[in-house]
Amino acid sequence: MLLKDRVAIITGGAKGMGRGMALKFAQEGCDVVIADINMQAANETLEEVKKIGRDGLVIKCDISNRDEVREMVNQTISKFKKIDILVNGAGGIIDSLGPVKKSVATLPQNAWDRVISINLTGTFYCCQEVVPYMKEQKYGKIINLSSLGAIHAAPVPQPHYHAAKAGIHGLTYDMACELGRYNIGVNVLMPGPIRTPFYDELLAGKSEEEVEGFFKMLGGLAPLQRVGTPEDIAGAALFLASDLSAYVTGAVIPVTGGMPLQPNHD
Ligand SMILES: NC(=O)c1ccc[n+]([C@@H]2O[C@H](COP(=O)([O-])OP(=O)(O)OC[C@H]3O[C@@H](n4cnc5c(N)ncnc54)[C@H](O)[C@@H]3O)[C@@H](O)[C@H]2O)c1
Repeated sequence: MLLKDRVAIITGGAKGMGRGMALKFAQEGCDVVIADINMQAANETLEEVKKIGRDGLVIKCDISNRDEVREMVNQTISKFKKIDILVNGAGGIIDSLGPVKKSVATLPQNAWDRVISINLTGTFYCCQEVVPYMKEQKYGKIINLSSLGAIHAAPVPQPHYHAAKAGIHGLTYDMACELGRYNIGVNVLMPGPIRTPFYDELLAGKSEEEVEGFFKMLGGLAPLQRVGTPEDIAGAALFLASDLSAYVTGAVIPVTGGMPLQPNHD
């Protein structure tokens, strides 16, 4: 087992990639704290973790709220006494503000603020609260989820989201430089299109055929000719969370099916 008796916090662990990583880590012997705003889904993920035979905890935590992040980390330490792995997986573009895909000229201020605060500031808060424990134990693995959009413009304008995800790269590089001496690895997983509930709002009201067509179109843009799955992400995350990546820090690992490379035509 690659993560035997490790303890991981996974933000956004209730659904999508976070859920996939929670289950993969549990299969490798890790206890998992699921920090999320969706309690029902988080509890369902925890049940799966327990079925695998590992312990865990669900903590209601909006990562854009510093007090809630601090409380989440305190609760984790009270129960497990350590934090070996932090996965900053919570994030997204579309939330209660509704679809906010807007040009830079028309993007509402509150959409900018909210998307930056969830995707970038929330990641910063979680790192800030967890790092002191990792420094003390001279061990830690931090995995920050960004997006292909951080380095490669997407067809639809999302300046707030892309800026937030590019900011995660900068935060990661800085932390890698500072924390290497404490044996803390800080890396980015950069997903391409991964089929998760991330797309639910965008595809709301579409027929099953339209939804399948959308993912087929998206997958067709990648050299590997399909969209990714949470399991694809979990495999790469396992590498970064385990000692297989002992000499890896400050890296951005694309899990994109090869994008932004494009498939050749015969
Ligand atoms: N799915 C994709 O194609 C894709 C592509 C590139 C990057 N990403 C990024 O990967 C990460 C995971 O995406 P996903 O596809 O699994 O998304 P998802 O929507 O399936 O799951 C996101 C999880 O984060 C939780 N969450 C949202 N806001 C939160 C908050 N403020 N505090 C705590 N939890 C919160 C949600 O409740 C949910 O459980 C996100 O950062 C996303 O931006 C996704």
